[in-house]
Amino acid sequence: MAKRNASGNHDSLSAEPHVHQRGREIQRYGTVTHAFHLELEEPVRLEMSEQLNQLLADSMTLRDLYKKSHWQVAGPTFYQLHLLFDKHFDEQVGIVDAIAERIQLLGGVAIAMAPDVAETTQIERPPRGREEVPVQISRLLDAHQMIIRDCRKLAERAAKLGDQGTNDLIVSEVLRPNELQSWFISEHLVNMPLVHATEEVSKAAD
Ligand SMILES: [Fe+2]
Repeated sequence: MAKRNASGNHDSLSAEPHVHQRGREIQRYGTVTHAFHLELEEPVRLEMSEQLNQLLADSMTLRDLYKKSHWQVAGPTFYQLHLLFDKHFDEQVGIVDAIAERIQLLGGVAIAMAPDVAETTQIERPPRGREEVPVQISRLLDAHQMIIRDCRKLAERAAKLGDQGTNDLIVSEVLRPNELQSWFISEHLVNMPLVHATEEVSKAAD
């Protein structure tokens, strides 16, 4: 007689894929596993995971804001901004991955899907349509500012709780790249003449 498995079905080898499966969650969002090997207390890992998830949702939103800007940019600076926005998008992809994997490493659950990110992020939702370059850049700068502010708070809290790994990740892999990116885009909001200096000073007048 053939053996029955846990579901009561006969065990048999088959080349057919078992599709359309669903099951219960193996870990609920907002919880942490034991992860005793980290030598970090559960309340510390819970708090860090929660704050990292906020930073993750905001970074995913900034990442997507860069792609939107890359696609929708217009005007005389189209080419350089099209390339710069995509470079920053790529860097934010790396930042997002580093934050998410830190959350998993701490025993938590990283937020992942767009609807959950949209409910969590603090960054203002832009319209679906296109906006002028100064508005695009202002939105990006506002998002950077929020992330930079949260990075400093989180890095300080992580150090206080003895989670040096999170502190190092936030300072080196999130804060500094965000500072650098915001500098690169903020310089595009400086009103500079392209051909003639605003006030030409002649040598004879000296
Ligand atoms: Fe592209």
